[in-house]
Amino acid sequence: MPLVAPSLLSADFGNLKSQIEMLNRSLADWLHIDVMDGVFVPNISFGLPVCQAIQRYAQKPLDVHLMIIQPERYLEAFQKAGASILTVHYEACNHLHRTVGQIKELGCRAGVAINPHTSVHLLEDILPEIDLVCLMSVNPGFGGQNFIENTYKKLKKLRQMANQTNKHLLIEIDGGVNIHNAPLLVEAGADVLVAGSFVFNAADPSQTIADLKAVLCQKG
Ligand code: DX5
Ligand code: ZN
Repeated sequence: MPLVAPSLLSADFGNLKSQIEMLNRSLADWLHIDVMDGVFVPNISFGLPVCQAIQRYAQKPLDVHLMIIQPERYLEAFQKAGASILTVHYEACNHLHRTVGQIKELGCRAGVAINPHTSVHLLEDILPEIDLVCLMSVNPGFGGQNFIENTYKKLKKLRQMANQTNKHLLIEIDGGVNIHNAPLLVEAGADVLVAGSFVFNAADPSQTIADLKAVLCQKG
């Protein structure tokens, strides 16, 4: 069954505790945490203290997406701040194989994210080592952007690659996900859908998560 991971980037930060409690009660599977450094991406979101605060209240796995340069410097700190899944960017790691090893040694699931311009073929050699690939379906940095349609092609190719070398790989789609493209993404091979603005800009975020799960169940 496909998973839904609401991104807290679009939550109301003034009411973070109640937003997390809403997600605890909802059908969300994971909480997606977008960490941005203003260098790897042209925006700054939040860092460790906020992640620690989220950890205090969250009852679901924290899926931490590090959009930062040299992420290896902060892996342990984010693991201690509650990360279950730690995802680093292919484009931000000079020694990705070592970084993936460090994530696994910390007891976290290891994810690698790629930007829209990065070919899935570049993941061929790391694929057997990792638990998750996050395909960015927008240019990372901001919530609320339009979904890039080329993602379907990348997703299908990556699913084929994973069928050969890593049958347990989870493929996550991040950016511009909504109720219209969600079933198509699952059909093309996605396992985890991140949804930020679609969930939090809705009148009833919890019901919106339930609606997403319902359309995915029909497919998955
Ligand atoms: C973008 C982030 C996404 C973002 C998704 O850099 O990685 O997780 O929050 O937001 P939406 O769903 O609004 O595109
Ligand atoms: Zn993200």
